[in-house]
Amino acid sequence: MALLEVRDLHKSFGDTVVLDGVSMSVEKGDVIAVLGPSGGGKTTFLRCINFLETADSGSLVFDGVTHDMAHITKKQISEIRLHTGFVFQNYNLFRNKTALQNVTEGLLIARHMDKAEAEEKGMRMLEKVGMADRAAHYPSQLSGGQQQRVAIARALAADPEIIYFDEPTSALDPELIGEVLNVMRQLADEGMTMIVVTHEMDFARNVSSRTIFMEHGKIVEEGESKAFFESPREERTREFLRLEDRRF
Ligand SMILES: Nc1ncnc2c1ncn2[C@@H]1O[C@H](COP(=O)(O)OP(=O)(O)OP(=O)(O)O)[C@@H](O)[C@H]1O
Ligand SMILES: [Mg+2]
Repeated sequence: MALLEVRDLHKSFGDTVVLDGVSMSVEKGDVIAVLGPSGGGKTTFLRCINFLETADSGSLVFDGVTHDMAHITKKQISEIRLHTGFVFQNYNLFRNKTALQNVTEGLLIARHMDKAEAEEKGMRMLEKVGMADRAAHYPSQLSGGQQQRVAIARALAADPEIIYFDEPTSALDPELIGEVLNVMRQLADEGMTMIVVTHEMDFARNVSSRTIFMEHGKIVEEGESKAFFESPREERTREFLRLEDRRF
């Protein structure tokens, strides 16, 4: 049984059709790279499946339970969110909280964990991303790469079944990208299920198990990552991959 299944997801903003019937199935342990040109609907897709945006239609099956995405209740959303993590392009850390407080916030508020237990867990998560020595630092005292690693620790603290990443390295200076990708690669090796919207072709090619190419709100092509990069079927995919190669 798939961990997550999205069926025929549609979303428009006014007259603009942004998602035009997107379906995908994610097995436990899958690392799915989502590629595509700017404006193709990648962020909207992640926001819809995490209910930060309400889909016009579509269903989402999570852990065997089917939800009508256009009519899901707040309670159902909270239930699903207990099992999912989200890592944003711009980290979205609380500026007035330390690294450790950012990680423990959700454990204290959403999960009612006691403070000592939350802090113990928070420190373990910071250790996992190599940030334990900066636990008392505020975001303004951390580099972008360090802030993003704290954001990953925050996502991990909830023991999610799946983590969604929206271009987690695209706001970073080139020399800081590697440290974040290394953490993500380590999570992949440990079997974490992830959907990663990215322009990092090496990550897609070498770390992800499946790659999806999305444009104009539709999946143009998807496949096992090795085959996707070695022998893309669609001419449009080949063109996109050539252009991405030239960007760097
Ligand atoms: N809240 C919104 N209101 C109106 N239009 C929106 C909104 N959010 C996104 N859009 C439009 O939806 C389209 C898809 O945007 P989206 O951010 O999902 O693309 P993307 O693939 O993530 O692009 P990028 O690679 O630049 O991040 C764009 O045309 C965008 O202008
Ligand atoms: Mg985007």
